[in-house]
Formats: sequence, C-alpha cells, structure tokens
Amino acid sequence: MDLKEAGIDEGISEVIVTTKSASGKLNAAPIGIITTTSEDKTKNNHFVKLYEGSKTLSNLLETNKLVANVTDDAVLFVKAAFDNLDETHFSLFSGFQVLKEAKSWILFQSVLAEESSEFYLFQLTPITVKINRKEVKAINRGLNAVIEATILATRYDVIEDEREKEELKKLMVHYAGVVKKCGGRREKEAMEILDEKCFFL
Ligand SMILES: Cc1cc2nc3c(=O)[nH]c(=O)nc-3n(C[C@H](O)[C@H](O)[C@H](O)COP(=O)(O)O)c2cc1C
Repeated sequence: MDLKEAGIDEGISEVIVTTKSASGKLNAAPIGIITTTSEDKTKNNHFVKLYEGSKTLSNLLETNKLVANVTDDAVLFVKAAFDNLDETHFSLFSGFQVLKEAKSWILFQSVLAEESSEFYLFQLTPITVKINRKEVKAINRGLNAVIEATILATRYDVIEDEREKEELKKLMVHYAGVVKKCGGRREKEAMEILDEKCFFL
C-alpha cells in the first residue's frame, strides 16, 4: 500500500499517533513514522521507534495497533505532547478513535521488531487508509520551529546534564523567535502553550 497520497513519505513523518490500552483507554501523542524504501524501490517499510515511559509504548505492547493522524495543526502537536486531548477532538474510523481534524488516517498493525535498553522498534503494516482533505501548502518555518521546540521540550525533563539543558533552552528561545517572525495564528497559539509548560521561554 503506497501511503504517499495520505502524506506519509520517505524519511520521518511527524504525525499524531492514537492508540488504545487493553482496557480501551485512548491516548494521543506526537510520534515519527519512519519510512524506508527497499533496495529494489518497490516496497516501503514503516516503523516507529518508541522510548521507555510513554503511554503510546505501553498501549502498542498491549494492543498492537495505531492510527497515524496526519495534521499540520501546531496546537494539536503541543497539546498531545503534554496532555491527552479531550474527547471533542475525536471521531471513529474503522472502530478506532482518530483525530477529527486530521487530513488523513492510516490504521497500522504493529509487530515488535527490535528491543534494546533504550528503545522499542515496531514494524508497521498499513491496514486501512482514509484521506479526508488534500491541500497544497507552502513550507512555513513557524510550523517547523514549533515542532522542533516541542520535541526539545519533551526531552528537557529526561536530560540530566546541566550544560545540555542550557543548550536546549537556547535552542528553544531561537525557535520561539522563528515562530514570532514566521508563524501564523495557530503556530503562535501553540508556542504560547509551550511557553506555559516551559517557564524559561
Ligand atoms: C514531533 C514529535 C515527534 C516525536 N516522536 C517521537 C518518537 O518517534 N518516539 C518517541 O518515543 N517519542 C516521540 N516524541 C515524544 C513523545 O511525543 C512524548 O514523549 C509524549 O509525551 C508521549 O506521550 P504519551 O505518554 O501520551 O505516549 C515526539 C515528540 C514530538 C513533539
């Protein structure tokens, strides 16, 4: 199944992943879908690499399914990274809860492919795809900056080295500047939420 039309292309595609626990509790978090192309270029392989401690990891170990929700909404990325999104954001797709506003949904089955002390690598097989909206959009540096700053913010608490923490803060201040200059309303709102989470911005 070629997922290019649904927005998942070679490299790492940042999406919001929805998963369910064995007891049916829903979770949403930003995760990168890793796509590699086989040598004969006929087949794409999809993976997620999950670090210890996330709800997404425990849910996937329990239920082996995830939905990649393709969206460029900066606010959803920031909210999903820190809190769970409230139920007004969700609707149903193939019996699975998905982000109502997403441009596409891809339901994947997962198999644990590699496990180390640092991460779990799951291979993903697409089961069903739905494209809701096709939009042409130019690159916005503000959106990219929000994504970079959000990734750094999720790492801040797990880093112990003080010098590394200082470096990370400097980078985040830089990204906040890019959002101020290049971002639209949604990117600026996302950065304000991030600012409340990270007192140092
Ligand atoms: C854009 C973006 C991409 C991310 N990609 C990953 C990833 O591929 N793997 C991972 O373990 N964490 C990733 N994270 C961090 C998780 O989203 C973060 O740890 C989150 O708090 C996990 O939430 P959960 O406990 O609800 O699953 C990413 C964060 C952002 C902002």
